[in-house]
Amino acid sequence: MSVLFDPYVLRSLTVPNRVWMAPMCQYSADAHGPDTGVAGDWHFQHYASRATGGTGLILLEATAVSPEGRISPADLGIWNDRQVEALRRITGFLADRGTVAGIQLAHAGRKASTDRPWRGGGPLEADGAGSEGWPTVAPSPLPFADGDPLPAELTTEQIAEVVRQFADAARRALAAGFQVAEIHGAHGYLIGQFLSPHSNRRTDEYGGSFENRIRLALEVVDAVRAVWPEDLPLFFRVSATDWLTENGADERTGWTGDDTVRLARELRAHGVDLLDVSTGGLAPDVDIPVGPGYQVPFAERVRTEAGLAVAAVGLITDPVQAEKIVADGRADAVLLGRELLRTPYFVRDAARELGGEVPVPQQYGRAL
Ligand SMILES: Cc1cc2nc3c(=O)[nH]c(=O)nc-3n(C[C@H](O)[C@H](O)[C@H](O)COP(=O)(O)O)c2cc1C
Repeated sequence: MSVLFDPYVLRSLTVPNRVWMAPMCQYSADAHGPDTGVAGDWHFQHYASRATGGTGLILLEATAVSPEGRISPADLGIWNDRQVEALRRITGFLADRGTVAGIQLAHAGRKASTDRPWRGGGPLEADGAGSEGWPTVAPSPLPFADGDPLPAELTTEQIAEVVRQFADAARRALAAGFQVAEIHGAHGYLIGQFLSPHSNRRTDEYGGSFENRIRLALEVVDAVRAVWPEDLPLFFRVSATDWLTENGADERTGWTGDDTVRLARELRAHGVDLLDVSTGGLAPDVDIPVGPGYQVPFAERVRTEAGLAVAAVGLITDPVQAEKIVADGRADAVLLGRELLRTPYFVRDAARELGGEVPVPQQYGRAL
């Protein structure tokens, strides 16, 4: 019997199966004007089709808590009510299909103000004539890559403002109909920049020791948890390693799997229900041993050593592979990214292959 199609209970929420969609930026919202950051037809069909395909839970792409927090000018945002209205159309459709709607709340920090990937993805000048860019912020005034614009170091007042923005975003996410909020602490974006000593060189209470570097993450979690209903789950995405130490750098210079286990214990105590375990993204030109399921061992460690539920992600592309990860107790669920871009009905097809069940729309009943 397949376990991938067993329901999964988190607080009072039941997710219908264990095959979920990873957050994936579409860089397809208006970059200017009243509809800046507002989900449009592209977003609707993108998420609606994966729900029709039986995906148990969909994590909407990195959605910026403030205009400065966008990766690109075309990112989704969740800092105003117009954005909420458009998201409600998506969550309504997902609910009708029985798919749980989640949203990833994000601030890009020093990796903000970049172009869409298909235009090269490079940094956008903040002050160039006609440029779409804006000044970036970070824990410390260090660029992501040599030659990138220098971010401004956040003051403690500005850090408090970011924390409030995450809480406001969570409030709006609830109003938009989401049942899962995920805080984006991974891939070298703002919260991840605070976690790693490679990008955080602060000497105040937000830098230096492990306790200080995780302070922003915990403050965001507390602020979001305070507005997010008790009966709904909160996720956190982390890069379990920035792959610096694994590549021979001094262990004090990077964020490691051990740090992640320690952080996971804290997150659990602060009301996080599930850790979404990714890796990398903090520093450019890092050697990563990419291969099928290469990040699963990091998820498994957190599940075993910190006793926190986990979702595994990264090159999970095959139903039997996904089934084995969950059946072997290495993760509670799997998140699929690119495979779901290629195959929107992957989950329905996997159910057919493994003998599980997902609801098929009655309109498509003749094609069973
Ligand atoms: C087009 C694209 C956009 C992505 N955007 C995000 C994002 O918004 N937030 C995030 O945490 N990860 C993002 N990722 C990473 C994915 O969530 C996922 O972790 C990664 O693609 C590895 O999984 P996969 O091998 O199944 O694709 C993105 C990946 C892709 C391919």
